Amino acid sequence: MLRHWICLGALFFFREGGSSSSSCKTIGCGGHDPTATCFCNPSCFSFDDCCDDYAEACPEPLSTIKLGDVNMLVTTDLHSWIEGRSHDAPLNASLAHVVSVLDHLRSAAHAEHRDVFFFDNGDINDGTGLSATAPDHVAFLSPVLQTARYDALNLGNHELYQRDGHGMVEGPACPVVGLKESGYIASWKGRYLTSNVVWSSTLQPVGNRYALVEGKFGTKLLTFGFLYNMEDHCDAVEVLDVEETLASEWFKEALKEHAGLSDGVVVLAHMDYRDPLVDKIWAAVREGMGSTKPLQILAGHSHRRGYRQLDKYASVYEAGCKLDTVGFLSYSHEADGLRFDHVNISGSIQHLAGAVNRSASNLSTASGAVTAQAIRTARKTAGSDRALGCSTQRYRLLVPLGNSSLWTFYMSQVIPNTLLDSPQTQIAIVGTGALSYDIFPGPVHIDDVYTASPYANFWLKLEGLGGAILQKLLAELNQRWTYALPPYVNSSIPLASSSYDLVFCDFDTDPILSRLSQILGKRPEPKLFKPLLNTSSILTAWFEKRPCAKEVLV
Ligand SMILES: *[C@@H]1O[C@H](CO)[C@@H](O)[C@H](O)[C@H]1NC(C)=O
Ligand SMILES: *[C@@H]1O[C@H](CO)[C@@H](O)[C@H](O)[C@H]1NC(C)=O
Ligand SMILES: *[C@@H]1O[C@H](CO)[C@@H](O)[C@H](O)[C@H]1NC(C)=O
Ligand SMILES: *[C@@H]1O[C@H](CO)[C@@H](O)[C@H](O)[C@H]1NC(C)=O
Ligand SMILES: *[C@@H]1O[C@H](CO)[C@@H](O)[C@H](O)[C@H]1NC(C)=O
Ligand SMILES: *[C@@H]1O[C@H](CO)[C@@H](O)[C@H](O)[C@H]1NC(C)=O
Ligand SMILES: *[C@@H]1O[C@H](CO)[C@@H](O)[C@H](O)[C@H]1NC(C)=O
Ligand SMILES: [Zn+2]
Repeated sequence: MLRHWICLGALFFFREGGSSSSSCKTIGCGGHDPTATCFCNPSCFSFDDCCDDYAEACPEPLSTIKLGDVNMLVTTDLHSWIEGRSHDAPLNASLAHVVSVLDHLRSAAHAEHRDVFFFDNGDINDGTGLSATAPDHVAFLSPVLQTARYDALNLGNHELYQRDGHGMVEGPACPVVGLKESGYIASWKGRYLTSNVVWSSTLQPVGNRYALVEGKFGTKLLTFGFLYNMEDHCDAVEVLDVEETLASEWFKEALKEHAGLSDGVVVLAHMDYRDPLVDKIWAAVREGMGSTKPLQILAGHSHRRGYRQLDKYASVYEAGCKLDTVGFLSYSHEADGLRFDHVNISGSIQHLAGAVNRSASNLSTASGAVTAQAIRTARKTAGSDRALGCSTQRYRLLVPLGNSSLWTFYMSQVIPNTLLDSPQTQIAIVGTGALSYDIFPGPVHIDDVYTASPYANFWLKLEGLGGAILQKLLAELNQRWTYALPPYVNSSIPLASSSYDLVFCDFDTDPILSRLSQILGKRPEPKLFKPLLNTSSILTAWFEKRPCAKEVLV
């Protein structure tokens, strides 16, 4: 039940209070602060979580791409962060800039008759206003991706979450169904790859199981698209076990048939680059294609940058998330193996331009401009720029609970005032994966609300639970509390002598109900609560009631 994968190294915290944040000058880039609560490092959630001076103290060097024999540009886990970050200047590149980079790479490669491929590894949705303002979370986003001229794409777990509580609330059941019905999957002409995901109704693959992707200069890559063994997927699909898929006849046949026809194998794998399944994929390809077939696995899902060489002819590479990174990977043939090179290109306009020997002013190409226009159109449809109201301060996601904490704000102000009827007799409990980005002082737009709270999960209610039961539930939910932020937070303190309605969101149903079943000795039946509201809309409602002072808007 991972909403997004939170790893140890990717969590950073201010010391209590948050105001006396450390300096990366003293901590050192990548280092710990003295109380060991935070690292000086960028993360998927924020450009600099520990030190406000990260950008100045730890500038990432510009790196220039050198082309190899076979070249790949990759995005993974975009989570709809394709518009460039307005609150994180060091990550201001959009997908349009990436498309321009692709053009420049291809023209540099043209002179040397080399091929450059462009891949996306899934989790396109759930992150910004572009996603969750669309009922199916993908309708506004997918036309933008269609302009990006990918050679092949994979799907991720976020395309597969059940959104309607199996009929409890109205609306589309699952994003991937929207991708099919809108013609998005078909528009990729066989290059939307789903090697182990099938429609549950027909058991036919959602996209294609594999494709032989051919470059302009003849490089042929046999390309697959795998998803980790996801269990909590929507009813529309079945996710087949990766190991069983690797052992299946069609997979072995595909390798055998293409052993001579392909120059290499690419596996888009929506799984952590350290996942043991990566090694199983490697072993299966080796078994079917021999020990010297070039193999590149492109990983995702962990939201980290990472690289592992698997053998002399194989490696796995993961390119961060949310466009904090654009990945470049190449391999070149050498006497006794392949030389793999990769570049973690930071998602800023400067870094992307520098990677292809350009400057910000002459990076944009005609197809980049087409994508930029598609982003503007989508933002307009989503209403991303609509101002709601103003925030008096910055609320930070990754700090201990307290005055500067987004979670304290959400639980003790937003929920009691926009969701609950009676904060004295109703208590909300929410898992802390539900929010994902800071709120900044000043005008708050639709996009700011959805970047902070992207998932729009609906609400459920269980009536008449004793305070002692809720205390026990909270203690169990927070048993393994390893970070500064607890796994679950609550809107007020349950008193043992009182009785409450428990309010929670559908994403947390299983962890909450399974523990309550144990405590109560039977599984309680929750009711739908305020079906018109969800985890995102209550933040919208809060800021709509807090208009900006006149001078802020001019
Ligand atoms: C992007 O961010 C950089 C800072 O990293 C800044 O110098 C540049 O002006 C920004 N460009 C745009 C177009 O916002
Ligand atoms: C890319 O980033 C990962 C994680 O920080 C690092 O291990 C790897 O060395 C980086 N690659 C390069 C070429 O710098
Ligand atoms: C950028 O310029 C360097 C130095 O001239 C060159 O080695 C490299 O191939 C160029 N890269 C691209 C993508 O044009
Ligand atoms: C892009 O602009 C930079 C700086 O303005 C200049 O040095 C470079 O030659 C330009 N490149 C091309 C290909 O026009
Ligand atoms: C936090 O907020 C409370 C209540 O508004 C206030 O009394 C307290 O001084 C604040 N603490 C800090 C560190 O700002
Ligand atoms: C949540 O409940 C715990 C345990 O009962 C309590 O210590 C904590 O203060 C509560 N949080 C809020 C925001 O009331
Ligand atoms: C969330 O609630 C708002 C307000 O009712 C609604 O407009 C929006 O469609 C809801 N989102 C989802 C995904 O249900
Ligand atoms: Zn993801």
